[in-house]
Amino acid sequence: GIRKKEVNVLCLGLDNSGKTTIINHLKPTNTQAQDVVPTIGFNIEKFKTSTLSFTVFDMSGQTRYRNLWEHYYKESQAIIFVVDSGDKLRMVVAKEELDTLLNHQDIRSRRMPVLFFANKIDLRDAMSSVKVSQLLCLESIKDKPWHICASDAVKGEGLQEGVEWLQGTES
Ligand code: GTP
Ligand code: MG
Repeated sequence: GIRKKEVNVLCLGLDNSGKTTIINHLKPTNTQAQDVVPTIGFNIEKFKTSTLSFTVFDMSGQTRYRNLWEHYYKESQAIIFVVDSGDKLRMVVAKEELDTLLNHQDIRSRRMPVLFFANKIDLRDAMSSVKVSQLLCLESIKDKPWHICASDAVKGEGLQEGVEWLQGTES
């Protein structure tokens, strides 16, 4: 049959933000992991939509592994950046990592789409996606298409909307 267009996606964000839980939900049901554990280094995962084949580099967000991220910038065509909406204390750290990412020489000059998940919206004191986008200053991103979705990765809510947006940017 016709091969689907392949897209390499880098999934980034602080440790415990929910990256692996999100990617796990997007995989075919029979390949989903029963329990999600903190990622060591990174994992490579694949899933398909009606028009695209995604290869996801699900990176560890732990401080000691964050220096791995940049090695995968060049070969990625899109970024998923996950934020824990309930983690007010570390929102400034998430912003620092985002700014470092967006200013990197392998990212800066490129019009690659960035999909944000304001994850864990089910938490009682979670910030809204509008609040998260304000704290991350997303409006200042002018050179890339970006989109933010509120999500609950445990229930799988909000994920499809994000993937559909990503898919639309590739057509
Ligand atoms: P690292 O691999 O260490 O970078 O973390 P990660 O970003 O991959 O986070 P992971 O997916 O391992 O999730 C961390 C914890 O948050 C797990 O206990 C998840 O069950 C939980 N979690 C993920 N998404 C949600 C969510 O939307 N709501 C709630 N309440 N918990 C979530
Ligand atoms: Mg992980």
